[in-house]
Amino acid sequence: MISKWLDERLELKKFQAKFLSKTFPTHPAYLLGEIVLFSFITLVVTGIFLGFLYEPSVRLVSLFGAMVPASYASVVRIDLKPLGMLIRRIHHWSAMLMIASIILHLLRVYFTSAYRNPREINWLVGLSLLGISLGAAFTGYLLPYSQFSVTATSIAYYMVKSVPWVGDWISRLIFAGAYPSDGMVPRFFFYHVMLIPLVIMALISVHLTLIVKQKHTEPRSNIGRPEAEGGRRLIGIPIWPEQAIISLSFFLFLLFALAVLATYVPINPIEVYGAPHPGTPVMRPDWYFLWVYGFLKLIPGDLSVTIFGGKITPETIGGVIFPGVIFFIVALIPFLDRSGKMQNYNTNPIDRPFMTALGLGGAAFLIMTAVAGYIDVLHITPTAMLIYTIIVTLAVFGGIFAALSVRKKKSGA
Ligand code: HEM
Repeated sequence: MISKWLDERLELKKFQAKFLSKTFPTHPAYLLGEIVLFSFITLVVTGIFLGFLYEPSVRLVSLFGAMVPASYASVVRIDLKPLGMLIRRIHHWSAMLMIASIILHLLRVYFTSAYRNPREINWLVGLSLLGISLGAAFTGYLLPYSQFSVTATSIAYYMVKSVPWVGDWISRLIFAGAYPSDGMVPRFFFYHVMLIPLVIMALISVHLTLIVKQKHTEPRSNIGRPEAEGGRRLIGIPIWPEQAIISLSFFLFLLFALAVLATYVPINPIEVYGAPHPGTPVMRPDWYFLWVYGFLKLIPGDLSVTIFGGKITPETIGGVIFPGVIFFIVALIPFLDRSGKMQNYNTNPIDRPFMTALGLGGAAFLIMTAVAGYIDVLHITPTAMLIYTIIVTLAVFGGIFAALSVRKKKSGA
């Protein structure tokens, strides 16, 4: 009755026939993109709850007899509300899950060569989503304005400021003046709750529209199956109702897992860190920024080059040039690894010795730079760590490349 009424007005049946009958691949690896999507939805919903209670200001207020920034006090008060701490922890765990699943999703796309023609544009859109999601996490860290917030964001401020010629101007623009400025918290609040989510939503819309238009890649085992022929009909299950039911169950399961995690495992305990004070110690960033932080530790402190009057310091090299180069190389992958024709079937990573070895070697390099973030705890000198990093990277690349090449030769492929 209601569906008939709605159908008369919105032509839902036409919509269902055109879009909801499209097929979704059944392999579980294709769920990674959905996990990203679900974590983002969870972030938005829990973020709305937090938005009602958070105060984006550094004015000093009294909290248990001490004068602390209002933003810090408001987050401590959220933690004291019934369910407040749970929702805040779910928000933070969802952010972790989102970044982790984006990285796994990227690796799935890379190792199955799903980025090739015609999906190069979607690779770039996806990579922008990774960059902007890291921006969301970074801006979120400043908001409670705890000791951790201040150390984490001040490192980034000095990195941006170190850029020759324009660094001072850009850092003032991003951080609302010289660090730490009174306008910094409201400005980061604007980035975190408005600018970045809007950009993420727009990019996700483009990403998904391109997937609908270009269709998913498929496992090679589907080649030649009669259902796959005739205009490349994807083999899988329809989005409505089968995939929708699987996705919804999966979403509910994820929510359950996040709630259990948030109940038992504390995250970003600002009450333990305390409000910022002049002697705030340097703290390590979260795992997804450790590769940048660790790389900075590998660069000799006195390394600097002057070009056209602009000074390039270790902060510029480690904090701006290094991540920029890594993102640039990743962006280039579909344009360097080209196959003339359209690639609608996945390739088994075992059959691509060079690209698989390159991917694993690159991952080993980034993991080693993240480990370098702990050289003070591990009592390793920067030079020794640099040598280990080079050895491990080359060993992983060389070992995988040799093993897969021999296998390929033997199988006569
Ligand atoms: C907010 C971040 C992202 C969201 C919400 C998202 C979502 C999705 C979804 C739902 C799919 C379809 C299911 C699947 O193949 O897993 C997909 C496919 C795809 N994604 Fe993403 N993604 C994100 C980030 C990325 C990143 C970082 C990359 C790579 C740099 C990427 C590249 C692709 C490509 C090329 C496809 C098509 C894969 C194929 O046809 O096999 N995405 N994405």
